[in-house]
Amino acid sequence: MSEKESCTYEEYKQTSDWLLSKTKHRPIVAIVCGSGLGGLGELLKDQQAFNYCDIPNFPKSTVPGHAGRLIFGNLSGKPCVCMQGRFHFYEGYPLWKVTFPVRVFHLMGVEAIILTNAAGGLNQEFSVGDIMVIKDHINMVGFAGQNPLFGHNEDRFGPRFPPMSDAYNKNMRSLLLAAGKELGYNNMREGVYCGLGGPNFETIAECRFLNKLGADAVGMSTVHEVVVARHCGLRILGISLITNKAVMDYDSNFTANHEEVLQAGKDSAKYMEKLVSTFLQRLDLN
Ligand code: 6GU
Repeated sequence: MSEKESCTYEEYKQTSDWLLSKTKHRPIVAIVCGSGLGGLGELLKDQQAFNYCDIPNFPKSTVPGHAGRLIFGNLSGKPCVCMQGRFHFYEGYPLWKVTFPVRVFHLMGVEAIILTNAAGGLNQEFSVGDIMVIKDHINMVGFAGQNPLFGHNEDRFGPRFPPMSDAYNKNMRSLLLAAGKELGYNNMREGVYCGLGGPNFETIAECRFLNKLGADAVGMSTVHEVVVARHCGLRILGISLITNKAVMDYDSNFTANHEEVLQAGKDSAKYMEKLVSTFLQRLDLN
């Protein structure tokens, strides 16, 4: 575990200034690729990529299926920065490190962030391959006493007590659903994402419990990034690809596994890519 309790405004600024000095790109949209969805990053035109290990102050990614590159470029004519691989709490990083890039994006001038993830379906009407627009979340790690905003509040990023009831931007949600409709997708859903710490998948009792609480999908990411992004005023779009059905039944012989998650990501990658590109075409940030 890191000795440091957090990092200073100057450290975020140092990373932002370093990146701005190394690239001519000026992104207004950030995209975070979930497990198996790294292909989104390859779509960027005129791209320039940095390995996380070469970026000052950046943590390093350790999970298979997460490449660990920051890619700048244009997607559907919008200047974007794409995280090919994200940081997870279960890798052993404190949450301020997991969310470090979000504040760097904000300082670079990014206005909207698209967070994608692979998630297990808790809602019994969901199927593998469904695309769920996140309308709200349950931050179980926060309930358990871990939050990226713990400690000194940096007022230059946002207020001490930020609201979360409006975290997922309504316009962007409807725009994504409309983009799905336009593409003829019949697998678009909207729902509540529950973020857990991982790295183990849930027990049957835990899945039943989460579903009763109102969660439609469960995963190990995204909510911390949302908390920090909402704090600094970014517009947020969250998209879960349902990669497996959470095990809810004691008679089931299925068990969740990472390979299945990555495979489902690969199988649906093209749909997700088309969806995000179409969304960006329609997105007007004015
Ligand atoms: Cl079933 N659970 C969690 N926690 N994360 C997942 C998942 C399930 N499927 C994909 N990611």
